[in-house]
Amino acid sequence: MIEETTVEATVQRLAYGGEGVTRVDGLVVFVPWTVPGERVRATVVERHPRYARARLEAVLEPAATRIEPRCPVFGSCGGCQLQHLTVAAQREAKAQAVVDAMERIGGHRGLGGLVCEPAASGWGYRKRAVVSWRWTGDELDFGYHHANEPGRIISIGGCPIVSDQIDVQLARLREALELALRDHAVAFDSGVLEGRLALRCLPSGPVQAGLFVDQTDLARHLARALSDNADIETTWGGWRTESSLTLAADAPRLINRFQYRGLDLRIGFDSFIQADLSGAERLYDAVIDAVGPASGKRVIDAYAGIGVVACQLAAAGAVVTAIEAHSGTASDLRANAHSNVATGSLHVLELPADRVQWSRPGPEIVVLNPPRGGCPRRILSGISASPARRLIYVACDPTTLARDVRRLGTGWRLESLRAFDLFPQTAHVETVAVLSRQNR
Ligand SMILES: C[S@@+](CC[C@H](N)C(=O)[O-])C[C@H]1O[C@@H](n2cnc3c(N)ncnc32)[C@H](O)[C@@H]1O
Repeated sequence: MIEETTVEATVQRLAYGGEGVTRVDGLVVFVPWTVPGERVRATVVERHPRYARARLEAVLEPAATRIEPRCPVFGSCGGCQLQHLTVAAQREAKAQAVVDAMERIGGHRGLGGLVCEPAASGWGYRKRAVVSWRWTGDELDFGYHHANEPGRIISIGGCPIVSDQIDVQLARLREALELALRDHAVAFDSGVLEGRLALRCLPSGPVQAGLFVDQTDLARHLARALSDNADIETTWGGWRTESSLTLAADAPRLINRFQYRGLDLRIGFDSFIQADLSGAERLYDAVIDAVGPASGKRVIDAYAGIGVVACQLAAAGAVVTAIEAHSGTASDLRANAHSNVATGSLHVLELPADRVQWSRPGPEIVVLNPPRGGCPRRILSGISASPARRLIYVACDPTTLARDVRRLGTGWRLESLRAFDLFPQTAHVETVAVLSRQNR
């Protein structure tokens, strides 16, 4: 089969990431924006030795689980991949993606009954968002990245998965930013500029915005203009990649509060918090439940963030070492330990988790919640060499979870696996895997 061949086929399943998978003449073909069970016509646009990718031309026989997407930019925006599926079918696909990854990469069989636990709401759940913008000198692109051309920005007038508070600000902020950029362009001819606008709205306060562009003086200037033009609290900083939005040294941290099971926690604008707060609580509950009675237990919470789990376990009597590499987040973590738990029950290590001597704090239980790329091998071998008997791994990417579970080796048994739909309409899925040490 060569490029530009048009084929007709039945979609068998969704791959992790949301693309439909079918087979034509024995070759695996990925077709985005399709639904398992439906018959489609598609044109091959990329041919690789072991698979091909095709563009959907027509849905010939739609599946019963196909629905009308709600968002006008669905199909071109890279933010949501599954709006054309019922939420129940989305969850089925996510559970299947976790099972596939754990079987194919992790080498674990018999997980077929896994259910992806539902979100509280399918829409308006995101309490934070990052909008990309590009100023050409006289025009502003303001939105999310294109699904097929990541360098292109799809302009948005609103976004149905962000909270109503953030959604109503999007149009205002776009106008305010355009005004600020136009004023700036009159004074300086800086040519094409690209940046990010991070938005956050926690229950303790109004929407706040961070303006990120690769020149601190300009970031400060635009953030202040945005604040004046849109009457919103702002901060600023630089950016290099999507995951590295860094506040400038002179920028305000815009502190908020987050409450969980009696804890009152501080969180700066640049500290991690799940986008869906009720989903976050269910994840934290799952970890706390997996630890069981905490009193007297020695726990390491690695990639601890602002310390929600660490503080909860320390408050319940565990002796906790929390590891967090980001300095602003680590300062929130220390403040949260100070104001929520007894002195001496929570020790904060501000350093990268791969620099930890895992045997020194001598943990019985380790909690891991790394970013999407998973854990370096050094951490996994450190945990295996430590006295830890139980490992609770919270993952936002089932493929790296499965890889890390395999790398842990046969000394560990997968005790339980839960999947959570924290990001309805997208292909993302959160998982909590509990592993216990095999008897040696
Ligand atoms: C997915 S978040 C989890 C945060 C926290 N467990 C929670 O659920 O609220 C990952 C956290 O790990 C931190 N982090 C990233 N790389 C790290 C590293 N190499 N060592 C330690 N912490 C790291 C980030 O700053 C972030 O706070």
